[in-house]
Amino acid sequence: MSARILDGKSLALEVRKECRMRVNALKAQGVTPGLAVVLVGANPASRVYVNSKSRACAEVGMHSEICHLSGDASEKNVIERLRGLNEDSRIHGVIVQLPLPARLRAHLILQQVAIDKDVDGFNWCNQGALSDGYPRFVPCTPLGVLRLLEHGGVKMDGRRAVVVGRSSIVGKPLANLLLLRNATVTICHSRTHDLARETREAEILVAATGLPGLIKADMVRSGVAVVDVGINRTPEGKLVGDVEFATVSEKASVITPVPGGVGPMTVAMLIANTITAAERSLSAAH
Ligand code: GUN
Repeated sequence: MSARILDGKSLALEVRKECRMRVNALKAQGVTPGLAVVLVGANPASRVYVNSKSRACAEVGMHSEICHLSGDASEKNVIERLRGLNEDSRIHGVIVQLPLPARLRAHLILQQVAIDKDVDGFNWCNQGALSDGYPRFVPCTPLGVLRLLEHGGVKMDGRRAVVVGRSSIVGKPLANLLLLRNATVTICHSRTHDLARETREAEILVAATGLPGLIKADMVRSGVAVVDVGINRTPEGKLVGDVEFATVSEKASVITPVPGGVGPMTVAMLIANTITAAERSLSAAH
């Protein structure tokens, strides 16, 4: 069997088309959705991601700002900037590009983003709301994964889902979203004793580890739906996922490619979340 490809690039285009219509509707009511991205330092990969977020905003007619702080900025500097953005009525979504320089305590800085502008869903209030089953802002990558699964017709209700990776950005929120879809969810991580034993049980398998080619064909059951969140650069400069695509795609029923799978969905969901924030600000004002 050769798996059907879940094409994130074309689905992201569809999401962005919906976004453009929502932006136009907001503009007709006098509101242009605005996103601010706080970037600290000069991590080259972060610059690329930030620029692509800003381009995506422009493409759907949104306002965006990149707030660039120098690599030696203090926690106080970052927090002051966030407080300014929280008060700025042209800005509906605020994100802090990660990773931050190691000396800055990211988990504390992220709490300073106003919960109504926290379009990355990293504030503990939004993470807590999701784990309590009442999602407000949900992190963009897990939201993109869910949309891909739904669009691909992958049934979640009652099925065994295994998430490999326990980060607050992907693994944990995704496990919560799958639970809300009534999947039976296992989270695996670097200390899991026998990873292959767990992954072989999966009917839905999501890999979000940052370890290139971790998931091999002998670790999956035939017919599994595979989502690869990994974006890893090989020494030759090629982008590869956490899943050994060539062999696993022979056993899976559906699979996301890297690149062109989850990656484009993340940016599209960030745009969608920011528009949602702008829509909510409008309904709160009336
Ligand atoms: N770094 C890697 N992924 C993300 C993300 O989803 N949001 C932010 N702000 N930074 C990231």
